Amino acid sequence: MNHFFTIDQLSSSEIMMLLKLAKKYKSCSPNVDKKIFGANLFFEPSTRTKMSFIVAQRKLGIDVLDFNESVSSTKKGESLYDTAKTFEAIGANFLVIRHQSDRWMDELKDISIPIINAGAGKSEHPTQCLLDLLTIYDSFEQFKELKISIVGDIKHSRVAHSNIKALQKLGADVYVSAPPGLEDDKLTIPNITVDQAVELSDVVMLLRVQSERHIGKNETKTDYLEKYGLTKLREKRMKKNAIILHPAPINRGIEIDSTLVECDRSRIFNQMENGVYVRMALMMKLLQDWGVLKHENVIEER
Ligand code: CP
Repeated sequence: MNHFFTIDQLSSSEIMMLLKLAKKYKSCSPNVDKKIFGANLFFEPSTRTKMSFIVAQRKLGIDVLDFNESVSSTKKGESLYDTAKTFEAIGANFLVIRHQSDRWMDELKDISIPIINAGAGKSEHPTQCLLDLLTIYDSFEQFKELKISIVGDIKHSRVAHSNIKALQKLGADVYVSAPPGLEDDKLTIPNITVDQAVELSDVVMLLRVQSERHIGKNETKTDYLEKYGLTKLREKRMKKNAIILHPAPINRGIEIDSTLVECDRSRIFNQMENGVYVRMALMMKLLQDWGVLKHENVIEER
């Protein structure tokens, strides 16, 4: 058989032969069983998170099941639950999901494989948080009493929401600096000005401005940088060993002066590098906790 275009090509005996072979694979397939499959289901755009998951998975020898939402059956109306259930059924050992809903995980309580949150609406981005923590730890080797300011659109930032909780848990002093209207009223920590933030902080974590939404008719990009962003003048007032973080993507010239993106204090590209390693660690832990990794199929960095 050169190709397989129509069922007419198979005789009844060939059909039965294929069914029996498939049943054999189903019941006893040692080579296939040793493989670990991870499915990356991104329903929102991503460069860093998606690609660093793929690099992390490949380094660990995990087979990556990529998913392109724009050409998937979600376009025919398939739900998130049925999409996840499909990947479970075809043999994914775990799922990585980014979705615009704050609480997408509530729909997936009946999924029986581990799921990693790669970004949930405005609520949480926990793997970004882990890589931010590693980047801070790389610079300071501790969190206690570090002064960390998160600057920008706090209200809509899933990065801010994950980081505030984790940094407080680890003993850091966390401050926020949000422009008017972008504060999160549910937070109890004080909102300080960006000028206060740069002077008191060991870590200044900038957030992406959603310019289409937040820069009004009377406010230019330069206005935003001058009023709320990290300008060259503000950077000069930072503490000697203070560092700059940004989860990216970056709006150069809006929340940060473009020349500061790769300045000595900036750890922005270190954050991206660390994303690979925290995701490797997290996937290994989950797979061990769920018993997917046994002695005979322990995966190692390749
Ligand atoms: N920081 C972050 O989540 O970037 P991406 O949207 O490119 O994944």
